Amino acid sequence: MSSEQHYGQDKALQWRLYRSPARPSPTDLALYAAHIEPSGGFLLLGSTPELRSLARRHDKPLTAVDASVEAYRALEALVTVPGEERFVCSNWLEMDLGETFELVLGDGVINMLPPALHPALLERVAAHTRPGGLFILHAHAVTEPEMATPEEVIRWYRTSGMELYTATANHMCALWANPADGGVPTPDFLLRYRQLLDDGVIDPEEYRDVEAMLQGDALTLYLVDVDRVRALAGPFFELEAIHYSDDYGCPQAKPFLLLRRR
Ligand SMILES: C[S@@+](CC[C@H](N)C(=O)[O-])C[C@H]1O[C@@H](n2cnc3c(N)ncnc32)[C@H](O)[C@@H]1O
Repeated sequence: MSSEQHYGQDKALQWRLYRSPARPSPTDLALYAAHIEPSGGFLLLGSTPELRSLARRHDKPLTAVDASVEAYRALEALVTVPGEERFVCSNWLEMDLGETFELVLGDGVINMLPPALHPALLERVAAHTRPGGLFILHAHAVTEPEMATPEEVIRWYRTSGMELYTATANHMCALWANPADGGVPTPDFLLRYRQLLDDGVIDPEEYRDVEAMLQGDALTLYLVDVDRVRALAGPFFELEAIHYSDDYGCPQAKPFLLLRRR
């Protein structure tokens, strides 16, 4: 199956340049931590170092599943708590671990897959979530643009006190996603910021920050429709709550769906 989106080892090492909402923010991590179940271990989809640290900090056994052993290994350098975990190299759509988990974490995971593959992902996650267990699906979502133009977003960013990417990425996704499938190819996204530089809307220093983070990244982010995900998940999961972070722009564009396994 050719559904895996990889960044190479260099890109994985660039994780340290990533800013929220591309990686979990402090409030995101607090939201994850608040939902750690008293018993049982975690299943982590992907290699997110902050979530590997979280599991180790709480002394929870962790199984991480990623299609790229290189990304998993490279990100080990950014895991801040000593310890161990089990790693399984597999496409999430084909994973078959032979056990179920109390807690499954997927940060930006569904966004790696085009909409046609979302049913298969939810089915595989359900197969690995214990009845009564929790799947925390933190996803980039389609939202109505809050502002009509990128220039307006940039004017707001200048009053926000946040870094450019953290303040603007969600707002820009709302403006720039392909309406057909929610797709936001990273190279196009970076080009749009380049255009803002060329038009004098952002400064070279502001652009360099975004460029350092995104250059060479070939991933496409597929924004999800929350109502559709809820409907697809419905046979397996009940939507218990939706939470939002408060430390990046347009937080409603990156909801935490707390999905309780039926
Ligand atoms: C931008 S991240 C998204 C996931 C998450 N934020 C993480 O890394 O933990 C990309 C990571 O997801 C992995 N990945 C992408 N598509 C995958 C798939 N279908 N199955 C398994 N891993 C996948 C890549 O190998 C890479 O390590």
